[in-house]
Amino acid sequence: MPPSLEALKAELESVRTKAVQEIDAAKTPEAVEALRVRYLGKKGVLAGLMSHLRALPAEARPSFGQAVNALREALEDQIGARRAALEAAALEARLQAEAIDVTLPGEALAPGARHPLSQVIEAIEDIFIGMGYRIAEGPDVEWDTYNFERLNIPKDHPARDMQDSFYLTDEMLLRTHTSPVQVREMLAMAPRTPLKIICPGNVYRRDTDDATHSHMFTQIEGLVVGEGVRMSDLKGTLEQFARRLFGEETKIRLRPSYFPFTEPSAEVDVTCSACGGTGCRVCKWTGWLEVLGAGMVHPKVLEAGGYDPRRVSGFAFGLGVERIAMIKYGVDDIRQFYVNDARVLRSFVAC
Ligand code: DAH
Repeated sequence: MPPSLEALKAELESVRTKAVQEIDAAKTPEAVEALRVRYLGKKGVLAGLMSHLRALPAEARPSFGQAVNALREALEDQIGARRAALEAAALEARLQAEAIDVTLPGEALAPGARHPLSQVIEAIEDIFIGMGYRIAEGPDVEWDTYNFERLNIPKDHPARDMQDSFYLTDEMLLRTHTSPVQVREMLAMAPRTPLKIICPGNVYRRDTDDATHSHMFTQIEGLVVGEGVRMSDLKGTLEQFARRLFGEETKIRLRPSYFPFTEPSAEVDVTCSACGGTGCRVCKWTGWLEVLGAGMVHPKVLEAGGYDPRRVSGFAFGLGVERIAMIKYGVDDIRQFYVNDARVLRSFVAC
């Protein structure tokens, strides 16, 4: 018995009712797609209904065909609308979840600052670079021969008592000053002239740490080697340096002293930058601050560096960076420079 037109139309209506409900209830785009396949797909419910077409009498076919196609169009519209609504809701939910409140206060960044010792080293480097010097560096772990022997400090020399050292082996130690860089640079450069260098770096001594002593501190060494270099060149250079670093009114004075690697040797004082030379607590009421050691390079040191002391001469100087930083920043305890307390470091402004 072939199905009657009425029976098929009735089935069509019950398919419509069910499909409309199900599409309405679909919660996700995937569920909507599954319904599309079930009802509208090649082997779907509507295709199944259409297959009854042949069995109908010829005059009933157009009306049933149109009815199925009308339902197909209606379901396609509903599916499209439902899918669009679900996608819009999903987008809205994502936007809500990812929303950024641009009115919230930002995270404050604590501004950093150069360490005061670095500031002093850079200021001094700049001054000497302006006078044609080159920056040279040497190792912290040094040979005894560079640290002492070739600087005219032989093994039994009393000057070795001045600097208690950290020895690693019989021949190797943590350098006690930056002067060994002089030797290294002379050996690399001789017999060429001129040699004009400054050498910043850490040095180490077996001292008990207190307000003015530290087992590790920082020095800057200077060395000039050339034909006809004289004591007056040293004095003029240091005068220039002191004026640039401490201010144009600064004066210097040289006091005779002794270092094994220079002859003659001098201690160099600058007028106190705190009181201008009239006397205060900083300069212990003398008006002067001792800031460096200097002298004419000893002929034996020139020779140990590969130069001919009859042909060339030189001057050298060495200064303690912490001492200068303490003067410039008014710090009275050297240990302040090593605490790494941001509150302390922030209080030093560029010099
Ligand atoms: N090396 C000496 C020290 O550490 C400082 C010094 C003095 C260096 C005189 C020099 C100099 O080059 O000429 O105490």
